[in-house]
Amino acid sequence: MIIVIDGPAGSGKSSTAKEIANRLEIQYLDSGAIYRALTYLWIAADKPEKNSFLKLLPGVKLQTAYKNQMFFVELNGADITHAIRNQNVAEQVSDVASVPEIRKFVNDYMRNLVLDDIYIADGRDLGTAVFPNAALKIYMDASLEERARRRYMELQEDDGSAGVTLEDVKQNLSERDQKDQNRSADPLKKADDAIIINTTGKTFEEQISEIIDIIQNKLKLKR
Ligand code: DC
Repeated sequence: MIIVIDGPAGSGKSSTAKEIANRLEIQYLDSGAIYRALTYLWIAADKPEKNSFLKLLPGVKLQTAYKNQMFFVELNGADITHAIRNQNVAEQVSDVASVPEIRKFVNDYMRNLVLDDIYIADGRDLGTAVFPNAALKIYMDASLEERARRRYMELQEDDGSAGVTLEDVKQNLSERDQKDQNRSADPLKKADDAIIINTTGKTFEEQISEIIDIIQNKLKLKR
């Protein structure tokens, strides 16, 4: 069974989905991390052209797990959990994620994974393209200003903010919104039956309780 949370970059989907997974003791699936893993592979293979890269995919051994607040990713036996978060991967991932054959590979991996447990997953197209029959669909949104402010604060906490201004973060988020919403393969889009949660002006605890109430009311989850 799967609960999906879609929404734009910086809307707080992944921190929210992880916290809900912890509180309800269900599994968490980070779909962006799988796109990042394939982007890492593409870079490590010296950025081959599309058809050569697609030939590598059937031989790829991908393993993911959620433990201790962390979504672990192993590629061909190597732990790339941290490596997929680097700037080089972040800059190329939108292009890799725009290839329909790559999206199919990622979608097949995720559909297969969720067969044997209860999952909450976050992404861009989960409610529309990947899991149209999800048990519950949430679409999280917040104003560009609020998303930029949160990302900027996160960057400062991680000490990854060297020279990066709030205006830079806002610009980057706005560009990613454009790319995610306008690509031809499975763009970021609210599913017709998704419940919208706008988190502008809400605390983290408020948004978590709101979503947990919706899950409990709709699914009567008991573990
Ligand atoms: O959530 P994230 O920033 O880690 O995602 C990385 C990239 O993957 C993001 O630029 C868009 C892409 N992505 C996607 O195309 N579809 C998804 N379901 C999840 C992520």
